[in-house]
Amino acid sequence: MRPDQYAVVGNPIGHSLSPRIHALFAAQTGQHMIYEARLGRPDHFAEDVREWFRTSLRGLNVTVPFKEDAFRLVDQRTPRAQRAGAVNTVWPEADGTLTGDNTDGAGFFRDLSGRMGFDPAGRKILIVGAGGATRGLLEPLLRAAPAQLVIANRTPERALELAQSFAGLAGATRLESSGLDAIPDGPYDLLINATAAGLGRDALDLPPGLIAGDGVACDLVYGPASLAFLDWAREHGAARVSDGLGMLVEQAAESFTAWRGVRPDTGPVLRELRQAIEAP
Ligand code: ATR
Repeated sequence: MRPDQYAVVGNPIGHSLSPRIHALFAAQTGQHMIYEARLGRPDHFAEDVREWFRTSLRGLNVTVPFKEDAFRLVDQRTPRAQRAGAVNTVWPEADGTLTGDNTDGAGFFRDLSGRMGFDPAGRKILIVGAGGATRGLLEPLLRAAPAQLVIANRTPERALELAQSFAGLAGATRLESSGLDAIPDGPYDLLINATAAGLGRDALDLPPGLIAGDGVACDLVYGPASLAFLDWAREHGAARVSDGLGMLVEQAAESFTAWRGVRPDTGPVLRELRQAIEAP
């Protein structure tokens, strides 16, 4: 029997770790499947994806820059994908229609609350950045009932727009927005860098005093691209820092579980990837 086919599409796609992550999940759970990287064509994205599903594909992950294209392409979306405004996971239904999901926020939250042991309830959270990445995090973070959640962005209007569109999920959380030069007083228990990959230090120019003594700082990107921000956070008092590798593995596990109905154990996979990206 031929293995079930899965893929990730992006552009560029050569450095994606997703094929490796899903191969490890498949081996661990005994799933008969293959998962490959495919280079997306910007002008033919929808056409290509429909054709892949028509011929063979059982599930697709979508990465930069196609998550909004995937959102528009699918026939129906899960509520969390609807709120995130972006789709990173697609599967076909029995009638041939395509469903789009977004596992990024759930993946981030699992890594934060599970591996890092951070419970947002009653805490103060600052997210820097107001793009698609931030949009994906807001629902799970707000559902965990922090005392305050501030979205700070270079362009304050984008932060305000996000805060307004998530006001309905805020409950008792003080949900606020600001520019980078007018961030409400800290210190914050959790600081998340959700700006474009690799920004840190000089580019961001954040004020001191933002991070609480036992505070946690996270970057959504992993490896060298996260170093400038995480070094800055350590120097400014963060007790613990984390890059986005755990989130990457957890969002993949969410997708895998949705497709296969089996939840992989992410711990050993994360350890193996960490070793691989840190190897000289
Ligand atoms: P993503 O989907 O990855 O979030 P995006 O929507 O392009 O990507 O958002 C990138 C984020 O990085 C935005 O918050 C952007 O700020 P603006 O809204 O002001 O553009 C932020 N960003 C990019 N370059 C930046 C810089 N040099 N300094 C501060 N913020 C920056």
